[in-house]
Amino acid sequence: KQVKKVFSGIQPTGNLHLGNYFGAVKRWIDLQNSNYDVTYCIVDLHSITLPQKPLELKENILRICATLLACGIDPQKSTLFLQSSVREHSELCWILSCNTTMARLTHLPQYKEKSEKMKEIPLGLYLYPVLQAADIMLHKANLVPVGEDQIQHIQLAQSLTKNFNHRFGPTFPTCEPMISEDLSSRIKSLRDPTKKMSKSDPDPKSCVMLTDSPDQITSKIKKAVTDFTSAVTFDPQNRQGVANLLTIHSLASNKSIEQICDESQRLDTGQYKFKVAEAIIEHFNPIRLKIDDYLKNPDYLWSILDIGNEKAQEVAEKTMNEIILLFLF
Ligand code: ADP
Ligand code: NA
Repeated sequence: KQVKKVFSGIQPTGNLHLGNYFGAVKRWIDLQNSNYDVTYCIVDLHSITLPQKPLELKENILRICATLLACGIDPQKSTLFLQSSVREHSELCWILSCNTTMARLTHLPQYKEKSEKMKEIPLGLYLYPVLQAADIMLHKANLVPVGEDQIQHIQLAQSLTKNFNHRFGPTFPTCEPMISEDLSSRIKSLRDPTKKMSKSDPDPKSCVMLTDSPDQITSKIKKAVTDFTSAVTFDPQNRQGVANLLTIHSLASNKSIEQICDESQRLDTGQYKFKVAEAIIEHFNPIRLKIDDYLKNPDYLWSILDIGNEKAQEVAEKTMNEIILLFLF
C-alpha cells in the first residue's frame, strides 16, 4: 500500500503564537514523524493577496523557516519549500480558475470576511481558494491538515479534482481534510477566553508568541483573564480562562489536565499562573533560542529552502507535464 501524501501550507506572517504551534505546527511534526510522505509549503503567494512590503515579506519567510526548523521540522523527512519558487503553482491556479465559477467563490466565508471592509478588493483575494486547490492538487496530496475554518476551501479542491478527472481522465487523487478532533488544542485568547488566540488580535497580551522571553511570558500569563473563583478546576463551560490555562499547561508539559489539577490543589489561580508560565517557558525557551540561532544564519535557511524547492519543483513539473498532455490530447 502506498504511503499517503500530506500537504499543508503556512503564511509567512511574522512570529507564531501558542495557538499556531499546538493547532498546526506540532501536528505537522507528528505527521512528519509518522508513516506519511509530507510536504510543507511557506505560502508567500497567498500572503501577497493583501499588500506586503517586500523586505518585510522576505524577513518573514526567513522567520517562519527558522521557526519551523526550531520546532522540529526536519528537512530530511519533510519537503519544506517556498511557494513562489515553484512557478507551476500559479500556472495550475490559472487552469483551475478557468474551471471555477465566480458564484462558487463569492460564497466562501473567508473571502466574505476579509473583503467586507474593503473598498477595492484585489482579484487575488478572490482567487485565493483556487490557488490553495492548485497547491494541493499540484502535489497530488491525499491529506491536508487544516483548521476547521478551511473545510470549505478543501471542498473546493475536492470538486475541482472531481471535475478535472471527469473531463480529462483520472489525474488527481481526492484530497481529504485532516481536522484535529482534539478540541483541547483550540487555544483561547488570554485576554478574552471566549475568542481564539489570534495574531490579528490588537491586544498583544492576548497571545504568547514563540519568541517571547521568559519575562514576557510570565507577565502575559499573570495578566491572563480568569474569574473570581480561586480553586484550580477544569470547567471549560463556566471557567473558560482557567480551562484555557490548564489546556496550555497540559500541552506544554505533556501532563494530563487531571494530574495538573491534583498537583495544584493547594494553589489559588494567582499562584497557579506561575506554574503555567514555568511550563510554557520550559517548553518554549529552547525553541526560542533555536529560532534566534537560525536567524543569525540566513544563508543556511535559504539553502534549506533551496533543497525543498528543488524537490517540490520536480513533483510540480511532473504533474504539469501530465496535464499539458491531457490538454493537447
Ligand atoms: P491567526 O488567527 O493567528 O491569524 P491563522 O489563521 O494564520 O492564525 O492560522 C494558522 C494555523 O494555526 C491554522 O492551521 C490554524 O488552524 C491554526 N491556529 C490559529 N489560531 C489557533 C488557535 N487559537 N488554536 C489552535 N490553532 C490555531
Ligand atoms: Na514521515
